[in-house]
Amino acid sequence: MKFEGQVAIVTGAGRNIGEDISKLLAAHGATIAVVDLDKGRGDKVASDIVAAGGKAKGFVCDVSSEDDILKCVADVMAAFGRIDMLINNAAISDNKNMFDLTTAEWNRVLAITLTAPFVLTKAVAKEMIAGGRGGRIVNVSSTSGYFGRDRATAYTAAKGGVVNLTKSQAIQLAPHKIRVNAVVPNKIGSPVGKDEFDPTRPVVNLVGRPGVPEDLANAVLFLVSEESSFIVGTALFVDGGCTTMMPGNT
Ligand SMILES: NC(=O)c1ccc[n+]([C@@H]2O[C@H](COP(=O)([O-])OP(=O)(O)OC[C@H]3O[C@@H](n4cnc5c(N)ncnc54)[C@H](O)[C@@H]3O)[C@@H](O)[C@H]2O)c1
Repeated sequence: MKFEGQVAIVTGAGRNIGEDISKLLAAHGATIAVVDLDKGRGDKVASDIVAAGGKAKGFVCDVSSEDDILKCVADVMAAFGRIDMLINNAAISDNKNMFDLTTAEWNRVLAITLTAPFVLTKAVAKEMIAGGRGGRIVNVSSTSGYFGRDRATAYTAAKGGVVNLTKSQAIQLAPHKIRVNAVVPNKIGSPVGKDEFDPTRPVVNLVGRPGVPEDLANAVLFLVSEESSFIVGTALFVDGGCTTMMPGNT
């Protein structure tokens, strides 16, 4: 198996995209640190992986807290002894126009969606460097990081930040054989932070169906695999081609 003996941390792994990334990497032999704020969700994904013959453990962590992140990385090292892959997937959206958004709400979205990939990557990269085996990191951005939206303000700013953070991380970690890339989803499963998929939500892309979490999991699998060893600091769009279309020119 591809990742036998290797360990992956996946944040926001308790459902949807993070869940599928965790399950696919586990199916390829990786041991998964299933990191989520919600203990029930994380433990369920970890137990599903173990029931399917894989290796995983749930870790409760609020990625907006630097203390939580540092404890989580220490706990993962204590449990598994190494970290080879990090998937910065956890995020929340504001879904608000700027006039409805408080500064506290803005700060919370930025803390989880942009600051956490900075803090966690720094902590994990230190372990990767100490281990001397290199590593792979994937940050989950969004097509919202490339466009303005009427009803999202902090989220669009944070996801745009994730794209450029990825480039700086890629440059700074390349000497340590740590490859950093981003994936850019659009309308994958349920909207971020919501429990249910809305079938009436308009989907305009070249494939003609909404994305599913497995689409993202496959892209992440590629970016953490040897097959992508020449790909560094890029943002891979997993959006059904929607961003190749001019608005109204469908
Ligand atoms: N769903 C989409 O259509 C879509 C589109 C573009 C980008 N994305 C991106 O993909 C990623 C996953 O999206 P999703 O739809 O699966 O999200 P989701 O809301 O379904 O799941 C996110 C998970 O993160 C966890 N989480 C939330 N806050 C946390 C915190 N502070 N600390 C730790 N865990 C926390 C939640 O408990 C949840 O299990 C996000 O980065 C999102 O921005 C999703």
